Amino acid sequence: MQSNLTFHNISLSNVTEMRKIQSYSNVTHDFWYEYHCMTDWKEYSFLCYLDDICVGSLVARFKNKTSNLYIMDFDVALDYKRMKIGSRMMEHLKEIASKISKISSITLHVWTSNEAAVNFYKNQNFEIVAQLDNYYYEYQPTTAFVCEFKIKRDTNCLKDCLLFWSNEESQSL
Ligand SMILES: CC(C)(COP(=O)(O)OP(=O)(O)OC[C@H]1O[C@@H](n2cnc3c(N)ncnc32)[C@H](O)[C@@H]1OP(=O)(O)O)[C@@H](O)C(=O)NCCC(=O)NCCS
Repeated sequence: MQSNLTFHNISLSNVTEMRKIQSYSNVTHDFWYEYHCMTDWKEYSFLCYLDDICVGSLVARFKNKTSNLYIMDFDVALDYKRMKIGSRMMEHLKEIASKISKISSITLHVWTSNEAAVNFYKNQNFEIVAQLDNYYYEYQPTTAFVCEFKIKRDTNCLKDCLLFWSNEESQSL
């Protein structure tokens, strides 16, 4: 079933699908948020389709002056949970991040009582690096975990780059 999964940028033609998916986790939508999903966060944000049904949405942003890709929202539609769709989406994000040299980690906040999500991130090899009290004003307890996944770069690719640069340098001498 999962072989039919495809990933699509968020655009004017599908942004309403994102609203439907995210309504499961009570995200407040506004034009500011949707504008960024379609512009400066576009590279790192996507919708996931199973055939022609939108089953997931992931929004991430890159903060300048950091090397960190931050997940703003991540949801799988209610009827499609626990089918490894979230795992495939996270692998897709990791693949995007691994191709962008300025990104060295993916981070996020998760409510400490969100058992499904905490387990999911552990399963995806995220590490809990901090615990913040009074982070969520809308939930009790108000505590969040900060989770981090460090991007592993392909060392062969690094070797190729070094070789390329040393060749360039010797040619310019
Ligand atoms: C968290 C979420 C995105 C996971 O997506 P998913 O497609 O259901 O997850 P997967 O099927 O890929 O699960 C992979 C693993 O994560 C863990 N996991 C996922 N859901 C779980 C649950 N309800 N309870 C316990 N562990 C769970 C399991 O280890 C699972 O592997 P297994 O099924 O072989 O045991 C989904 O539950 C969701 O949309 N939650 C609501 C929104 C949310 O909390 N987003 C994260 C905010 S930080």
